[in-house]
Amino acid sequence: MKNKIVLITGATSGIGKQTAISLAKMGATVIITGRNKQSGEAALTEIKQQTGNPKVELLLADISFSAGITELVKQFETKFDHLDVLINNAGLAASERKLNPEGVEMNFATNVLAPFKLITLLLPLLQKSTSPRIITLMGGDLPKEIEMDNLQAQKYFNGLNYYSQSKLVMMAMMYEYAERFKGQKITLNVCYPGQASTNMTQGVTAEMLPFPFRLLFPIFKYFVRPDNGKSAEKASRSSVFLASSPNVEDKTQLYFDKKVKQTPWPTAVLNIENRKTIWEMVVALSKK
Ligand SMILES: NC(=O)c1ccc[n+]([C@@H]2O[C@H](COP(=O)([O-])OP(=O)(O)OC[C@H]3O[C@@H](n4cnc5c(N)ncnc54)[C@H](OP(=O)(O)O)[C@@H]3O)[C@@H](O)[C@H]2O)c1
Repeated sequence: MKNKIVLITGATSGIGKQTAISLAKMGATVIITGRNKQSGEAALTEIKQQTGNPKVELLLADISFSAGITELVKQFETKFDHLDVLINNAGLAASERKLNPEGVEMNFATNVLAPFKLITLLLPLLQKSTSPRIITLMGGDLPKEIEMDNLQAQKYFNGLNYYSQSKLVMMAMMYEYAERFKGQKITLNVCYPGQASTNMTQGVTAEMLPFPFRLLFPIFKYFVRPDNGKSAEKASRSSVFLASSPNVEDKTQLYFDKKVKQTPWPTAVLNIENRKTIWEMVVALSKK
């Protein structure tokens, strides 16, 4: 990875930070992003110290709305003339339905619109790489169906279930983008990291769980108790593999599980009608 430039969104904590550490250890130039200056700078120092790699940089931008994404891409473009690996790692599991400044539901904006828009805006720089790779992180406990009439939780918001649906919708977008990249050198794969103790899981409240599972909340909390990044490190394995392994250099449209094994795409993602509707909606929203 010595001559590779890797951009990882949301890499100032959790799984993204562990992914950055592994790729920096391999010698890559790693650009981490987040919103918070203080935690961002602390992560930057930690990654450089742990890896001995000075080629780690921090970019600050909020990617939950259009102008923030454009700002991040601008910052990147002023420093780098190409991009080898984009890892769409940043994600959101909101506790209630909130809209971003453009009127888009926040889970949808962060988990679906942001990866799509980042890929689209960074495409010219990715195409300048000899073997560009895109990796996007998805969630667990995916629903069987996509509720096409509740894509932005406009009918109802059901906590983690809605977060999981937004990740499934994102997978449909990624599958479709990979379809459109076929015949080009660019690869696009997705992975499920597995459950890890991170700021995201620490922020889950009992009310975000489906009703019967609320009783099991203390057990959930036990499984995501702070562990000094141990579980996040384990959860970064699929992203690291897809970003760096020569075995997948020319492989695209793969879905990897937490054990770094290829797994079949969900039926809801393979549904062409679903993908067409979602694609058109996301393209329209991303022009806002
Ligand atoms: N942890 C799990 O058990 C689990 C399970 C399945 C899937 N995942 C997925 O794995 C990915 C990483 O999750 P994690 O648990 O490692 O999360 P995390 O520890 O909470 O880290 C989130 C990172 O994203 C950044 N971020 C969040 N919202 C942002 C925004 N609007 N704009 C810019 N940066 C933003 C945060 O930076 P700031 O703090 O500066 O905002 C931080 O660097 C997510 O996509 C998540 O859905 C996690």
